[in-house]
Amino acid sequence: MGAILPRHVAIIMDGNGRWAERRGLARHAGHREGVPVVRLCVEECVRRGIGALTLFAFSSENWRRPEVEVANLMTLFFDALEREVAELDANGVRLRVIGDRHALSVRLQARVAEAERRTAGNTRLDLQIAVSYGGRWDIVQAARKLAAEVATGSLRAADIDEARFGGALALADLPDPDLFIRTGGERRISNFLLWNLAYTELWFTDTLWPDFDVAAFESALEAFALRERRFGLAAAPGERDRA
Ligand code: FPP
Repeated sequence: MGAILPRHVAIIMDGNGRWAERRGLARHAGHREGVPVVRLCVEECVRRGIGALTLFAFSSENWRRPEVEVANLMTLFFDALEREVAELDANGVRLRVIGDRHALSVRLQARVAEAERRTAGNTRLDLQIAVSYGGRWDIVQAARKLAAEVATGSLRAADIDEARFGGALALADLPDPDLFIRTGGERRISNFLLWNLAYTELWFTDTLWPDFDVAAFESALEAFALRERRFGLAAAPGERDRA
C-alpha cells in the first residue's frame, strides 16, 4: 500500500533573504531563487496526486518591508504569472490568489484575474498563492461578509455556525490543509491560515526556501504519513478523530 498522502499542503516559504545575505547578495536574489522551488512543489503535487497546495508568498505585514523589496517582489509575481500560466494550465492546475487583492497594483490585479479565468476549469491541482494575505484579515473579511448578509436579512445570526463561517473564508471550497510546512527555521504560524490550520500537522525545517528540494518535500510527506499511521484511526485523513 502507498504512503498516506495529504490532500492539501500549505507552505510558508521562508528564508529567501537570509539565503541571499549569506552569499553577499541582495535579498531580491533570494526571492528570485525561490521561484523555481515553487515550480518544483507544484510539479511534485501534480506528480503525486496531492489535490491542493497553498503557498504564502506575501503577508499583510510584508507591506512594511523596504519599498524597493516590495516593488521587486511584486515584479517577481507579475513576471512569474506571465511566464508560468500557460504551463500551469496545460498541466491541469487551477490557480487562485487569496488575500486583499485590492492592495495590489491595477496591472497585477488584471494579470491575476486573467490567470484565474484561464485556469478556472482545471481540476488536477488547486494552487492558491496567498498575496497580501493574513489569517486575521481572512477572518475579518468573512465576518464582514456574513454581517452584511445579516444586515440585508438574507441570513439569520443564529444560523452562523462553523460550516457557514468557513464558507465565507478564502479557502471556502477546499478541505483544510492536512500538512503545513515552514522552511527557514522559525516555528510559528505567522498569521497564515489561522482558521484552517486548527488540526493540521505542522512540519518545520531549518532549510532555507531556495534550498528546499524534492528530498526535503519527501521528508515532510514521510513525517506526515508516519504521524497518520501512529495516531490516525481507521478513518480517512480529515475524517479521523479530532481529539
Ligand atoms: C520569505 O523570505 C519569502 C517571501 C516574503 C517571498 C516569497 C516569494 C517567493 C518564494 C517568490 C516566488 C513566489 C511566487 C508565487 C512566484 P524572507 O524574505 O522572509 O527571508 P528571511 O526570513 O531570510 O529574511
